[in-house]
Amino acid sequence: MQRVLVLDFGGQYNLLVARRVRECGVYCEIKPYRLSMDEIRAFEPAAIIFTGGPATVFEPDAPQLDPAVFGLGVPILGICYGQQLMIHQLGGACRRADVREYGKVELTHDGASELFSGVEPTSVCWMSHGVEAERLPDGFRAVAKTAGCDFAAIENAKRGLYGVQFHPEVMHTVHGTEIIKNFLFRICRLTPDWSMASYASEAIEECRAKIGSGKVLLALSGGVDSAVAAALLYRAVGKQLTCIFVDHGLLRKNEGDEVETAMRNALGMEIIRVDASERFLSRLAGVTEPERKRKIIGEEFIRVFEAEAKKLGTVDFLAQGTIYPDVVESGLGGESAVIKSHHNVGGLPDHVDFKEIVEPLRRLFKDEVRALGIELGLPEKLVWRQPFPGPGLAIRIIGEITRDKLELLRDADAIFREEVANAGLERSVNQYFAALTNLRSVGVMGDERTYDYCVALRAVETQDFMTADWSRLPYELLDKVSRRIVGEVKHVNRVVYDITSKPPATVEWE
Ligand code: XMP
Repeated sequence: MQRVLVLDFGGQYNLLVARRVRECGVYCEIKPYRLSMDEIRAFEPAAIIFTGGPATVFEPDAPQLDPAVFGLGVPILGICYGQQLMIHQLGGACRRADVREYGKVELTHDGASELFSGVEPTSVCWMSHGVEAERLPDGFRAVAKTAGCDFAAIENAKRGLYGVQFHPEVMHTVHGTEIIKNFLFRICRLTPDWSMASYASEAIEECRAKIGSGKVLLALSGGVDSAVAAALLYRAVGKQLTCIFVDHGLLRKNEGDEVETAMRNALGMEIIRVDASERFLSRLAGVTEPERKRKIIGEEFIRVFEAEAKKLGTVDFLAQGTIYPDVVESGLGGESAVIKSHHNVGGLPDHVDFKEIVEPLRRLFKDEVRALGIELGLPEKLVWRQPFPGPGLAIRIIGEITRDKLELLRDADAIFREEVANAGLERSVNQYFAALTNLRSVGVMGDERTYDYCVALRAVETQDFMTADWSRLPYELLDKVSRRIVGEVKHVNRVVYDITSKPPATVEWE
């Protein structure tokens, strides 16, 4: 399989670069720009892409590359900082731009570069830079410009070196994907050979080779990632895998049973399900502070898992459902800033004996994990579930958690989900759920005055969950959900819809 190497200079869009390349059917990995020449050669890249980055190329500590990279004979595409670096290191010059270009800008190409083959002569691209090229290195020519930038795209076609000042990976660049495809297929002459079917068989082989006859232990959380990791490992090593499903009693309606049944029926796999709800709920009694809830649940999850794991004795491998954005965002794979903090349940157990960790999904994006799940035979319903936070319904009940409130919220949430599905919006709304506020208000039902709970509905559209917009759900849908919740769920007399985006709000209410 041919591979593209994405050298990361810390740009905010680095993950998008990798996604776009993979969406074109070409496998790629993001690595820090500090990779040595030996490591770059060992990767055997069929092409290299330099990402953007926040540094200023002519300042003393700006990231540089070993110039030998330009002599590898491998085509290179430099994006933003990547283009400036190419210019700077090959004998051209860059300077601070008089006017910072930011946002959507009209780009015109000269019709003579392979990079723009099939692209309209003038189209919109996404710019974000304060430095620009002043003089190109020998052998380079400008192939596209904007009103504020004469070197919006450059090439030295003979040496296979290309640069763009704009960001083709950002969806606002109207022909971005075509430009990336032109680079991959016309310039580098790659073939799109990255598919989930081929990945699945390779990953299964890889796990088999690594695990041998060893024993593997995996904690199922009820989420998509750990379920797909389990399916993959089960295909690789069968009964050498033991899955422990810690049911903290904070899952959605019927969710625990659905996960268990899916693993059994679709894969023929046995799992150990521990009903730990009593333990979790008693530790959570009286707790109202959101971060404290998270901490208790994280700790308790690990403790229950450890207690169960102990019964199995020593295992050789501990498996985790880590996915690619976790690896890159936590600063391990690339240069980009550490973003995630509280979004994982608990961390690693310290009292489980294991020799090594296996993370069979660590090179996959979320949508690839889903495709892999389908490839491995997991039901669509399980694989396409919306994201669900590790601490579960605990952070959707404002204030103290009780069994009664959990029951109430589960019923309200199930109605909302059912109606979103009936409206055919399951996949276009990225996350939607009910939260139970700790507000009680006056209502009237029949001839009686009521004083009951207020349920909040939340639905968002987002690509990365770091920013999100509230979904413009149809009024008829909201009306139906509201009527059903108040009619069918006892002790709810009011339903509100959350119309705040993130930021300033978050997706969850706690
Ligand atoms: P927020 O509320 O931070 O949520 O806007 C962004 C995404 O992360 C999920 N989320 C969590 N996931 N543990 C998790 O595993 C957590 O503590 C947690 N908090 C939020 C949230 O559901 C949304 O998808």
